[in-house]
Amino acid sequence: MKVLLLGRNGQVGWELQRSLAPLGELVALDRHSRLEDGGCGDLNDLDGLRETVRRLRPDVIVNAAAHTAVDKAESEPELAHALNATAPGALAEAAHAVGALLVHYSTDYVFDGSGTAPWTEDAATGPLSVYGQTKLEGEQLIEASGARHLIFRTSWVYAARGANFAKTMLRLAMERERLTVIDDQFGAPTGAELIADVTAHAIRQTLRSDAGGGVHHLAAAGETTWNGYARFVLETARALQPDRSLKAQDVAPVPTSAFPTPAQRPLNSRLDTARLRSTFGLNLPHWQRGVRRMLAEIL
Ligand SMILES: NC(=O)c1ccc[n+]([C@@H]2O[C@H](COP(=O)([O-])OP(=O)(O)OC[C@H]3O[C@@H](n4cnc5c(N)ncnc54)[C@H](OP(=O)(O)O)[C@@H]3O)[C@@H](O)[C@H]2O)c1
Repeated sequence: MKVLLLGRNGQVGWELQRSLAPLGELVALDRHSRLEDGGCGDLNDLDGLRETVRRLRPDVIVNAAAHTAVDKAESEPELAHALNATAPGALAEAAHAVGALLVHYSTDYVFDGSGTAPWTEDAATGPLSVYGQTKLEGEQLIEASGARHLIFRTSWVYAARGANFAKTMLRLAMERERLTVIDDQFGAPTGAELIADVTAHAIRQTLRSDAGGGVHHLAAAGETTWNGYARFVLETARALQPDRSLKAQDVAPVPTSAFPTPAQRPLNSRLDTARLRSTFGLNLPHWQRGVRRMLAEIL
């Protein structure tokens, strides 16, 4: 089996390099990659992308690249649209032409965040931001392409590699006596490792049978707020490294309105993952398990 991975250096892309390797021949590209005989991994170069797919003729294309800077997207909507909507649409058409399965990632930000119930895949969308809107358009273009596809909507992604919320909280807790963190947005922090491992399983099962295409919600089990997440990070850091000097004794809860940002975020980012668990026969571990593991790695 030949697998083409785009966005190899992102949080999810990096973990996919590990989890997809056993599936077969893996060609992993980033935005600077150029193939010797034509083609590239830049989502902003549609002809280059099409050429890559035509030349490689992969069985599976996994797109982990995206415009993920949620606030910045508000001031550069054309670029966000090009990367999150137009490029996935073009990839889907190219995948359809060579009969490849396209795997793509989307977000809880396609929802408006109302209510408290976890969102199912069929729930009405209503993005509040340019990022959410462009990601939704990407989904729609893939669905319209006729390509066989899997779209995983995930939430609050973290990874040991690179910057992340937990690292920021640890740094601030060393500098300040008191942190203030939002406590009215609900969701589940989801590790890039988990997303990558589930992706590899799902690809295998989808290719073996005719089942399993379409949109699936992929998030760790349980729920918290950013405030609960921050508290858990500090508690776990203290337990793992009792000698670490964390000044902050308190993580004060504040509403989202206390931290105005260019992009509006949904308050309810809970994702119902029943479809994914039953289709692929998978268990999704509690979010604390993955975060504890990530902290044990970085501390
Ligand atoms: N992060 C989250 O909390 C979150 C939540 C829900 C859904 N998702 C979705 O999950 C997927 C993976 O996200 P992630 O957290 O792994 O994001 P990430 O760490 O920001 O990685 C995105 C990757 O896309 C690459 N990229 C940007 N512009 C590109 C271009 N023109 N051509 C090729 N590659 C380009 C970036 O490359 P550079 O490093 O060179 O910029 C980066 O490696 C995305 O579809 C995202 O929308 C993420």
